[in-house]
Amino acid sequence: MSAALRLEAKAGDLESLPADLAIVYKFKGQSDIGGSVGERIARHLGEIARGDRFEGRAGRHLLWHAPPGEGLPSRRYLLLGLGRKEECTLEHYRRHVGEALVEADRLGATSVALPLLEAGSAPYPVREAALALAEGVLLGTYRFDRYRSEPRSGRRHLREIRVAVGDAAVREASEGIALGEVTASATNFARDLVNEPAGVLTPQRMAEIARETAAEAKLEIQVLGPEEMKRLGMGGLLGVSQGSHNPPRLIHLTYRPEEKPARRVALLGKGLTFDSGGLSLKTADGMETMKCDMAGSAAVLATLRALPELAPRVEVTGLMGMAENMPGGGALRPGDILKIMNGKTVEVRNTDAEGRLVLADVLSYAAALEGLEEAIDLATLTGACVVALGPAAVGIMGNDTGLVEDILRAAERAGEKMWPLPLYGEYLEHIKSDVADIKNTGIRWGGAITAALFLREFVRPGLRWAHLDIAGPAFGEKEYSYIKKGGTGAGVRTLIRFLLDRAS
Ligand code: BES
Ligand code: MN
Ligand code: ZN
Repeated sequence: MSAALRLEAKAGDLESLPADLAIVYKFKGQSDIGGSVGERIARHLGEIARGDRFEGRAGRHLLWHAPPGEGLPSRRYLLLGLGRKEECTLEHYRRHVGEALVEADRLGATSVALPLLEAGSAPYPVREAALALAEGVLLGTYRFDRYRSEPRSGRRHLREIRVAVGDAAVREASEGIALGEVTASATNFARDLVNEPAGVLTPQRMAEIARETAAEAKLEIQVLGPEEMKRLGMGGLLGVSQGSHNPPRLIHLTYRPEEKPARRVALLGKGLTFDSGGLSLKTADGMETMKCDMAGSAAVLATLRALPELAPRVEVTGLMGMAENMPGGGALRPGDILKIMNGKTVEVRNTDAEGRLVLADVLSYAAALEGLEEAIDLATLTGACVVALGPAAVGIMGNDTGLVEDILRAAERAGEKMWPLPLYGEYLEHIKSDVADIKNTGIRWGGAITAALFLREFVRPGLRWAHLDIAGPAFGEKEYSYIKKGGTGAGVRTLIRFLLDRAS
């Protein structure tokens, strides 16, 4: 894990913030260097930009060493292109800042000073711009180097980031930064969990981590093992785990606000610490990255961990269904019939459609939670969702348009890609079974939708429910700016935003 990075908002401009390296922005199509940099720095860098024909194209960098005699506060200046102002959203800003900070670290800087984008003037409100800056810095410099002899650039040198907020309210900027520190560190925690190899991060280990987290963050926790599951009739969780030496766990966390909660929400996570497919074995290629199949549960734990610090007036239950899907001698077979906690029976046609079996029990368990109004599940559920929306987007479905719209809005502001898929009731035909109440796979087409329809069978009537299929964005095989390869922490920022909204 990387060393801590300190971020601090300061009144005034860059001129008053000496650092190893200072970052200055340039929009394409604007001749001046904007933002709170001070007259001298603006003049010098304006000349450099003109002389070097640096137009400010998005993501371009230009490094300038200040001449020693000039007495400028920093020795080095990184001119960062932000593209055209009308096209530069806060999400673009988040990305560019992250990339610039990686560059600063590569250049050996331990302290970096940079202005708040446009000092928070329209269309970049102070709090949101500061939040985007903090997330860009902390997500962009994330590395999973625990198992490497040589760490990579990102957090090798960087220690201090000072943000010049100009005449903007320092308090608001500090609040934005503080929120960004919480959302980014939660996201990075989820990334760490996903990146941990499945041989290390078993269901038991996840339960230990959840206990440690609950103790630190002051969350309530209960962990159920196979015995309790048998008593409760959780045939899905038990069935999926049959072929593995690692027994399942159901982790139940609760965050209770100090005051009377405005809402009661549950977050449910698919927690397959490894998905080999079981006897319906995946191909070698297909299972290469299947340690990521617990990303939903990682997002749930990371979000719960962040809540006490933010103290929203919402009661939040986190439920993580942890299991390992392996093809051992005792494994679940195609044709077996499982009984889920709510009493429904499932014909297992394909043991690789295991996530829905686990979530069926977790949803049934949630049905018994007193006063619960809304449930959101996160799951790396189907390859079909990745086919539909590509690797970057979450697919969302649910039984309540208001809830789905609220989550979509939270995702938009969090900078996470999310898109609705239809929950066509007609496709229930595809998962009718001849021998049980329902079967766990349908036809090939519309697989993300039939998976969601399957889950809906286990949602308590009257409960508002949304399902987030994160199979695409949970794990990166290609780097997209601050979304690194490996675990991405998908869903965490959206959930935190959503819960903060729900509290007000
Ligand atoms: N964990 C996988 C889905 C997945 C695929 C996640 C790619 C991340 C990347 C899930 O358990 C699975 O195997 N789904 C099957 C369902 C099928 C057998 C109906 C799939 O999508 O192929
Ligand atoms: Mn599977
Ligand atoms: Zn799976």
